[in-house]
Formats: sequence, structure tokens, C-alpha cells
Amino acid sequence: MASEKNNVPEHVTIIMDGNGRWARQRGQERLYGHKEGVESVRACTELAVEKGIKYLSVFAFSEENWDRPVAEIEGLMQLMLKAITMETPTFQKNGVRFRVIGDFSRLSEKLRKEIDDCMKLTCNNSNLQLIIFLSYSGKWDIVQAANKFMRENSEKEGAGQLQMTAEDLAANLSTAGIPDPDLLIRTSGELRISNYMLWQTAYTEYYFTDILWPDFRKTEFQQALDTYSKRERRFGKV
Ligand code: FPP
Repeated sequence: MASEKNNVPEHVTIIMDGNGRWARQRGQERLYGHKEGVESVRACTELAVEKGIKYLSVFAFSEENWDRPVAEIEGLMQLMLKAITMETPTFQKNGVRFRVIGDFSRLSEKLRKEIDDCMKLTCNNSNLQLIIFLSYSGKWDIVQAANKFMRENSEKEGAGQLQMTAEDLAANLSTAGIPDPDLLIRTSGELRISNYMLWQTAYTEYYFTDILWPDFRKTEFQQALDTYSKRERRFGKV
């Protein structure tokens, strides 16, 4: 690919971080920060639609987050359930396709059903795909992709000589069919990828900001997009 400057990224992904600290600064419970964080998801979704971004994905809950206190996990899951129920009509109105990616086996039946219903209802919307990574980790994704490939091919003739290619692995990731992120944003001053989309971010541009997630609204998102538009992407070439 030739060297190119970028205007609007096709896929923006966000590691939403700092809800707990935002709440603590206000003498509140962590859940208060998560609630305000949902408002930031809404604001960023609105701007993404306005800007013609095709995919907006957010890391809402990692596999590691299952080790948080039970009350916080339950609160977050309730919040997720409520947000999906509340936002579904808005998704329909704005042509937003809603998707959730992750290990669903640990989610409650009720949440799984709500997710499933919303995904089915919005599956033909084409302005923007809003993708929530829930109970997700990058290593989990790579391992499940490799296992899926093995299951599907191990019985075939000559399986012993089979070599898996990068394309084979990508085709079995939970993100298959979704373009790799052009821009990854992480809020709250943490400079890590924290077992997020490890494979898919090989050539992604990173943008780190000290702003805590509940304060990351349209103006802050626009700033990240402006920074991205000035980056030169060479994809390893000169
Ligand atoms: C990180 O802040 C935030 C999370 C782990 C949860 C984010 C989830 C939401 C905002 C709800 C999303 C809902 C929908 C519908 C997408 P933290 O708790 O790690 O904050 P800290 O680092 O300050 O402790």
C-alpha cells in the first residue's frame, strides 16, 4: 500500500478507562463512573455517525474484569442490559447495527437474550456498526481461532501436513469480516493494550489521552480524529 494520509478512519476502537477514578474524584461509588461512561459511549456513537465512521468498537469488559468484586460486575451487567434496552430504538432510528463480541458463556441468560434480540433487530442497519467487546480478551480470541481451525481441518486428508496461514487465523477470529482498527484510543493516561485486540491492531495507530472516560465526549473524540488525520501510515513500507 502506498504511503497515505488519512481523513476519516473506517474503524475506531476505544479502550474506555478511568470510570472508577472519575467516580472516586467525586466521592462516589465506581458504578457512578460506569453510568456516566455510558453517556460517553452515546456521544461517541453520535459523532461516529455524523462523521461517516463505519465501525466504532469499545472494550467494555475484559476476561480479566471477571476478577473484580461481584457487586461491581453485577452492576456493570445491569447497566449493559439497561443501556441496550434503552438505546435499541435510537440504533434503529440512526441506522446503527449493534454487535457484541466475546465469550458469551459467562453472561447471564437474560443479558444474552437482550444482546441477541438487539443484534437480530439491527442486523440490516448500515450507517455504523457499534461493536461492544464483552468478556473478551485478545489471547482468548487467537486461541479460539486456532482451535476452530484445527477442529474444522483435523479430520481432512493430509491434515498432518496442514500449515495454518495468517489468513486462516484471521478468518477464524471473532472479528472475522470486520476491518482491523485504523485508530485505537485509550483514555485515562494508561499506556497499555491490556490483552485487547492483539492480532487486529498490528498496524493500528494509537492515541493515548489523560482524559478519563466519562469526560471523553464529542470534542475529545474529534481531537483524536484530528490527530489521526495528520498521521502518515506506511504499513512497514518507506
Ligand atoms: C474502565 O474503567 C471501564 C470499564 C471496565 C467498564 C466500561 C463499561 C461501560 C462504560 C459500560 C458500557 C456500556 C455499554 C452499553 C457499551 P475502570 O473501572 O477500569 O476505571 P479505573 O481504571 O479508574 O478504575
